[in-house]
Amino acid sequence: MGFDGSGFIWMNGKLVPWNEATIPVGAHVIHYGSSVFEGIRMYHQEAGEHKSVVFRLREHIQRLYNSAKIYNMTPDNLSDDSPHAQSGEFLKYSINDVLDACVETLKANGDRDAYIRPAIYRGYHSLGVDPRNCPVDVFVMTWRWGNYLGAEALEQGVDVAVSSWTRMAPNTFPALAKCGANYMNSQLIKLEAIRHGYVEGIALDTMGYVSEGSGENIFIYLKDQKAIYTPPLGNSILPGITRDALIKLLNDMTDAGEIDAKVEEHIIPREMLYLADEVFFCGTASEVTPIRSIDGKKIGAGKRGEIAGKLQEKFFSIINGASEDTYNWLTAVEID
Ligand SMILES: Cc1ncc(COP(=O)(O)O)c(C=O)c1O
Repeated sequence: MGFDGSGFIWMNGKLVPWNEATIPVGAHVIHYGSSVFEGIRMYHQEAGEHKSVVFRLREHIQRLYNSAKIYNMTPDNLSDDSPHAQSGEFLKYSINDVLDACVETLKANGDRDAYIRPAIYRGYHSLGVDPRNCPVDVFVMTWRWGNYLGAEALEQGVDVAVSSWTRMAPNTFPALAKCGANYMNSQLIKLEAIRHGYVEGIALDTMGYVSEGSGENIFIYLKDQKAIYTPPLGNSILPGITRDALIKLLNDMTDAGEIDAKVEEHIIPREMLYLADEVFFCGTASEVTPIRSIDGKKIGAGKRGEIAGKLQEKFFSIINGASEDTYNWLTAVEID
């Protein structure tokens, strides 16, 4: 279901046919970028009980709400008689409502592997930068979805370059919010990478430290130091849900003696990328994607390394149902 116009989209409380889920050209979001959204994935388990499972659904919807709160879209407000209370339109749906809407849309569309895209945005009322009178609308789209950076990427790794575009400066566009407007920056990074023949770019922050890809977080492995680093939240990154999952997996692998390295949130100077034994991306779309070269320099052995390989194994065996979901990351959805 999806971009051929088939299937349904949940819009403000009800399922409507895909082509009828439209937004007026006068909607605030079109003019001022006032949207927050999520990208979530549902997998059809091969090894398990042949069911479909959504990866970390609640965490994604929580992040959606966090993004909406940053942009004053949620009714987290002082009492009405407080002089500091905010006025205007607010979101009318709870976290559980949006969570249920995702499941309802998945079931209506019937795909077994799907990408889920909920969004909260300022709709149609009047135009002006002040968004308060514009309704806070919600939709959930789902569509069939394959591998993001290419089928070979997970195995062979990808060639990337450091972008000439930097990520947003602190206190400009908040990076912790997954806001539509932030992806104008991501588009610049992605377009430049493609123009130079790379699949993706790595952006630095305004200080020149490693931040993230246009749609992925990043990890590096330094074998001699027995260290795995990923940039902290202060380096203008999205607080990735896959990043969080990998940190948990890596900590448990270290404790179990399965790897001889410790993961840490750590500032990464650009040149450390070139000297690392492994660099890999992670994210809902890219999962765990090894990077085999950066700016034409081979990274480590120029192919998937030990850490990325072990992480892929752990990650996919949970998602496939081959290993028990001890982290409680999966939500089963019954697709007819
Ligand atoms: C800019 C950016 N960074 C990181 C990520 C990875 O985040 P997650 O693992 O939650 O998908 C994404 C993916 O949505 C992204 O767009």
